[in-house]
Amino acid sequence: MSITPPIRRITAPQIRARKGGEPIVSLTSYHAHTAAIVDRYADFILVGDSLGMVMHGMDSTVGVPLDLMIMHGRAVVRGTSRALIVVDMPFGTYEESPNMAFRNAAKIMKETACGAVKLEGGARMAETIRFLSERGIPVMAHIGLTPQSVNTMGGFKVQGRDEAAWQVHIDDARAVAAAGAFALVVEGVVEDLADRITDAVDIPTIGIGASRRCDGQILVLEDMLGLNPRVPKFVKMYGDLGPAIERAVAEYAEEVKSRAFPGGENVYR
Ligand code: KIV
Repeated sequence: MSITPPIRRITAPQIRARKGGEPIVSLTSYHAHTAAIVDRYADFILVGDSLGMVMHGMDSTVGVPLDLMIMHGRAVVRGTSRALIVVDMPFGTYEESPNMAFRNAAKIMKETACGAVKLEGGARMAETIRFLSERGIPVMAHIGLTPQSVNTMGGFKVQGRDEAAWQVHIDDARAVAAAGAFALVVEGVVEDLADRITDAVDIPTIGIGASRRCDGQILVLEDMLGLNPRVPKFVKMYGDLGPAIERAVAEYAEEVKSRAFPGGENVYR
């Protein structure tokens, strides 16, 4: 018998059941201590591959390796006890075949103990989503502006400005929902298209730069805290921690240089 109490986390089916109900709160997190704070408020926490850009200074998410996702995923799981933890499958680890996707998704789930994975793509990923879901891996899909396709999209471009392209996105949403995805991130699409997508599927839509009518919202934590120098235009900043960090570092540097540690703080006695 185990002597530690079981952790009761929110599950993928519970998120799935929130379609049209109480809005789903989610944020990204990449490390244990911020995740512990987010855990008190979020229904799910995404260990997004945006960590390549936000934490590691990459130009896009294309270069993010699987091992890095696993390392950050483990930290976030360690720091949390309540929210569902979803880990992104990075570029090149799932597109080739359902078998490859299963191998890598299973590795992520075994090595991080997360509760679900996310992958980018609509109709073209439906077969893979079905393959994973039928084999015990809850999948969150991600359509609209899909950052791993930055090189074929020609940049991080808002989708659906031309109404003629809406049907492709709506079909993508329907395809991943029919394939068994438990939720769907809709990123960087015009508001009316996001609303049409939300109305078209029976799984929760999670908006980012999309519409307030999505079933939930997600933001990159560092963006909304003012800690990312490249914040997308649509993001409301709920904090401005960059200047606060700068002030603290500058004060520390000044005290070190002038040998002015106040009252012997920072010294073991
Ligand atoms: O990688 C990420 O942080 C994401 C969110 C922007 C949804 O995919």
